[in-house]
Amino acid sequence: MNKQQYDELGRSLAALLSGERDFIANLANTSALLWQELPDINWVGFYLLKGSDLVLGPFQGKPACVRIALGKGVCGTAAQQRKSLVVPDVHEFAGHIACDTASNSEVVVPLLKNGELLGVLDVDSPRLSRFDAIDRSGLEVVVETLLSASST
Ligand code: SME
Repeated sequence: MNKQQYDELGRSLAALLSGERDFIANLANTSALLWQELPDINWVGFYLLKGSDLVLGPFQGKPACVRIALGKGVCGTAAQQRKSLVVPDVHEFAGHIACDTASNSEVVVPLLKNGELLGVLDVDSPRLSRFDAIDRSGLEVVVETLLSASST
């Protein structure tokens, strides 16, 4: 997807979430919209921070690992570093957690609200190098839209 398509996706998301502030409902609809709109993905969803673990939240795709410790896997690393991570080949990421063996590349964006870490958005693809800087910044805008639309 190019920048223009991400702008369009951001508008669709804002419209979808408008009038509803429930966090879980908005996480669920955000994962459904991303699943519908992002080409070449096999999993998209959220992990929410509970204590020192990320716990599986609303998602689309195959059943996934439920609990990831902070600092572990791509999700736990992005959460601990509080920064988005684009991984072109998950098999070369030390400590990658394989929930679905079809996954070859991944992008993870932390959910940060007023400096507080709430969890992560995780998107997986069967295609190597599926995600680039446009995906990273587009998905960061998706997360900002989601968080500003929701009570957390
Ligand atoms: N691959 C992730 C685990 C979550 S699943 O991909 C849904 C990781 O390494 O953190």
